Amino acid sequence: MRRSITTRLVWMFALAAITTFSLIGAALYCVLERELTRHQDDDLNITLQNMRYSIERTGDTERWARVQAKMDTLTPSDGRVRFWVLSDDPRFQYGKGLDQFEQFSQEPGGRGSIGLALHGQTFRTLSQHIAPLGERPTVQLIVGVDAAPFAHTLRTFLSALAFVSLSAMLLVMLLGYWIARVGLHPLQQLSREAQTLRPKTLSQRLQVAQLPVELSDLAGAFNGALGRLEEAYRQLEAFNADVAHELRTPLANLIGGTQVALSRQRTAPEFQEVLASNLEDLERLRSIVNDMLFLARADRGEVATGLVLTPLAAEVRKTIEFFEFVLDETGTQVEIDGDVLADAPLETSLFRRAMSNLLQNAIEHSPAGARLAVTLREAADGIWISVSNPGRPIAEANLQHLFDRFFRVDAARNDPAQRHGEHHGHGLGLAIVKAVASMHGGMVSAASIDGINTIGFSVSRASMAGTAGDSVGLG
Ligand SMILES: Nc1ncnc2c1ncn2[C@@H]1O[C@H](COP(=O)(O)OP(=O)(O)O)[C@@H](O)[C@H]1O
Ligand SMILES: [Mg+2]
Repeated sequence: MRRSITTRLVWMFALAAITTFSLIGAALYCVLERELTRHQDDDLNITLQNMRYSIERTGDTERWARVQAKMDTLTPSDGRVRFWVLSDDPRFQYGKGLDQFEQFSQEPGGRGSIGLALHGQTFRTLSQHIAPLGERPTVQLIVGVDAAPFAHTLRTFLSALAFVSLSAMLLVMLLGYWIARVGLHPLQQLSREAQTLRPKTLSQRLQVAQLPVELSDLAGAFNGALGRLEEAYRQLEAFNADVAHELRTPLANLIGGTQVALSRQRTAPEFQEVLASNLEDLERLRSIVNDMLFLARADRGEVATGLVLTPLAAEVRKTIEFFEFVLDETGTQVEIDGDVLADAPLETSLFRRAMSNLLQNAIEHSPAGARLAVTLREAADGIWISVSNPGRPIAEANLQHLFDRFFRVDAARNDPAQRHGEHHGHGLGLAIVKAVASMHGGMVSAASIDGINTIGFSVSRASMAGTAGDSVGLG
């Protein structure tokens, strides 16, 4: 069952109410009982002293008859107040139902109670011994008041208290329900507002200003999430547009070339030339699609799983060897410097892919005969591999976008002269470097200082931690 805040609040209110009323009720009950007892005791005491005064002065049967008469008149017809005199001498005894005492308890100080079997009555009593005088032996005078009205008052009070408490609790529950509804109103408003959000209206934000403080944090966090969603959504839209744009050019080339080839009779060598040109465009298409598939894998949060401790410098050297031909052609030299002697945890195929992209960029963006440097550096946040090349400075504003998909400083794809020139990239090279870095738990960096452009990425040593066994020593 789903839990409702309103229900919970109502029950909590009810619990709080019943607890409060019970405590107050118990306190009132105690006070009332004490007051009633005190009142009765005062009455008993006055009556007892009165009668004692008379009995003390009674030493013969004549006077005793007058005392008895007095006690008779002081006993009301409803029998609420009673007198008893217990004595060894039957002549000096007094009291109705002397033979009916069912239970007679006596506490120190003379207090006690008497139950009368016949009437089913219980009396609160006070008693005192009175010293002998003349013929009269020692007697015990007992004064009793009926406990029934006392008990009745307490019972009535208790039931009234229970009734009032229960009604009050119901009232509190009702009020609690109303309070919860009113209190939670902003929440409903918030959820209504959130329900109207659509991808088209992602730029809208929840109104935080009118919300109570407790909710404004939540709404603020929600708005933050919306902001990130909006950003991601925009990137996705832009990415879609970029993909379409990127695929359109080779497709247009393919279709145009094919249409021209088919427009009249061609010789076999002519067709061969068209097919070769088509193949170039097809390969470009394939490489875009492959890169996009790779990036999609990285987007899904895939991490490098085939990590192997690899000697870094040797691995870099191997990648450079792939470029031997281009390097020779352009008279470019590459040197490796750095202090990482230990092996690095790498998935070699991914690492080579990133390394190739960096080297390719460096070669493309540096003048012929330039000297490139691959720097290997161990830092607190991982092992950094950077490629530096002399070249046109990259503007600060562009540096942070280098790793964005389809980003190119010179916006080559809008420049037909470049499209068919040396430049074959489609703006995904550095995005892939970034993906490889994050698959290795690393980051990327780009700098352009004093005509030297340095772009690099890192791999984390910790990424190997899950792979137990070989320990990684630092050089
Ligand atoms: N070494 C470099 N020197 C100057 N600019 C570079 C360098 N590497 C990359 N860039 C810039 O970053 C952009 C993105 O690079 P990349 O993602 O590899 O795409 P592509 O090489 O396909 O253009 C390049 O178009 C270029 O403008
Ligand atoms: Mg590139």
